[in-house]
Amino acid sequence: MTARHAPGIEPRLVTDRPLDLAAEQERGTYGPATCADVIAELEAAGLRGRGGAGFPAHIKWRGVAEAAGPRVVVANGEEGEPSSHKDRWLLTHRPHLVLDGLLLAARTVGADRAVVYLSHVETETAVRAAIAELGPVTGVRLDVHVVEPTYVAGDETAVCRSISGGPALPTARPPRVGEKGVDGLPTLVSNVETLAHAAWISRHGAAGYRAHGSTESPGTTLVTLSGACARPGVYEVPYGLTVAQLFELAGGFTSAPAGFLMGGWFGGLLGPVHAETCCTYEDVRGAGSGLGCAAITALGSHEDPIAVAAGISAWYAAESAQQCGVCVKGTASIRDAFASLDAGTASATDRDNLARWGQTLRGRGACAFLDGAATWARTVLAEFPQHLDQNDSTDQNDSTVSDTEGERHEGNR
Ligand SMILES: Cc1cc2nc3c(=O)[nH]c(=O)nc-3n(C[C@H](O)[C@H](O)[C@H](O)COP(=O)(O)O)c2cc1C
Repeated sequence: MTARHAPGIEPRLVTDRPLDLAAEQERGTYGPATCADVIAELEAAGLRGRGGAGFPAHIKWRGVAEAAGPRVVVANGEEGEPSSHKDRWLLTHRPHLVLDGLLLAARTVGADRAVVYLSHVETETAVRAAIAELGPVTGVRLDVHVVEPTYVAGDETAVCRSISGGPALPTARPPRVGEKGVDGLPTLVSNVETLAHAAWISRHGAAGYRAHGSTESPGTTLVTLSGACARPGVYEVPYGLTVAQLFELAGGFTSAPAGFLMGGWFGGLLGPVHAETCCTYEDVRGAGSGLGCAAITALGSHEDPIAVAAGISAWYAAESAQQCGVCVKGTASIRDAFASLDAGTASATDRDNLARWGQTLRGRGACAFLDGAATWARTVLAEFPQHLDQNDSTDQNDSTVSDTEGERHEGNR
């Protein structure tokens, strides 16, 4: 897959071909940081994590740096999100830049173990080749950990559990992985794109990084554009372009968009009016969704939002780790209600249930997985009321999910 960049920016990550060690070194990769204090520079840059939550990188780095005893750093390149391809692109085209960021993180937080966590065969091949090309690294044990691709395998607690020898399934928080992660040690888990930006910032500085983007969403980012557009793919863009401007880069819409899956399959479905929403964390949150891993899919004019919601909520029920009762029942109930709406057999109660679950099931379960299904319930009801009226029957179906049952997670995506 090729990646492109927005006109008018000097791309920081996107290149027209995979870069080997010599080509990377020519660009300064593995070179010294130009700043005295890397964490302070990340803070000044306002670097936000690209794994989904957009959490400030410097807070996580500082937390692990201040922990006692041995520490571990992990580059999360699992990318179980079905509509995202940016991490795969980065690992296959710029594996050295990701390794550079990972080793920078290890040195900065005082870790003597660094792990690249991934699922896809092409990323494993590229990363192992880059590690061999790089040769021995002093002071840090550098490994690759390969896991079966599933959605929940990318959650940071599942990452640490799997690297520690367990199943790639989430665990309850607290403790957070920054306190007890791989083998019970304080662990920094960062998305591979976050690490690539950190490496760039360490050499080009916070001010250079802030040359693009907004105050709250500074810099450039990799977006994956798909669906009803002429040229789906990965694009490096400054934060702040509208959804329509992003799709212009992808050759324009192939039909009038019926809606947008924002933030991958995690951010629900926004209506066509959101073509004018700016792609910053703050604007997309304000629109009731989330930028997540910056994957956006345009629905074509022929696509029915309710049918799409029915398909994706069925996927949620199938991908649940089946560990938390509230997630097992919640995802199944949302699936069933959307299936009834899609079949034209839904009752007013189904709609009321979806509206309630969209609110009450957020923040429930060990990880944030159920939040994604709840966001579908919330956004589809809010954004597509006209489609709900068309799919209605008078039957009464009872809610089966207790609104008070189950664990609460602290939100990590
Ligand atoms: C169900 C679920 C799946 C996730 N999948 C990924 C993933 O594939 N890649 C990723 O980097 N983060 C994923 N995350 C977020 C991670 O838990 C973690 O927050 C992230 O790797 C931290 O990196 P960042 O701070 O650089 O964003 C997932 C979270 C959840 C709840």
